[in-house]
Amino acid sequence: MPAIQWEERFRVNVDKIDQQHQHLFRLFNSLQEAIMEKKGQDALAKIVDELVEYALSHFATEERYMLAYEYPALPEHRREHEIFREKAMELQQRMHNDEFVLSLEVLRFLSDWIANHICASDQQYSRHFNDAGLR
Ligand SMILES: [Fe+2]
Repeated sequence: MPAIQWEERFRVNVDKIDQQHQHLFRLFNSLQEAIMEKKGQDALAKIVDELVEYALSHFATEERYMLAYEYPALPEHRREHEIFREKAMELQQRMHNDEFVLSLEVLRFLSDWIANHICASDQQYSRHFNDAGLR
């Protein structure tokens, strides 16, 4: 699986959110690198922890903006965050229980989520925020 490159089309035009998305891409790539370098389960679990923790605080930022700017699709968007949270925490738990978790399963889940969420659902709020004057 190749590293994921940040592209202009992923930009939602809200500085803070774009910076956070870029950081999520970096964390994803460092997980992938660690897997390719055959780092042990402990090292991988540590990166997954960091990634999940960062993703959850990023969701909080997005949802705060959505509330403040009365984004109409907030409930649906929040549900997507919730689904990510549940699946990510399940993977995290399994890694910490020393259960063998297929690295590919983790990467696949994260890259699907990045493609379907950041690159699709998150684009939908861009206009709403920009029209309300948020950049
Ligand atoms: Fe989101």
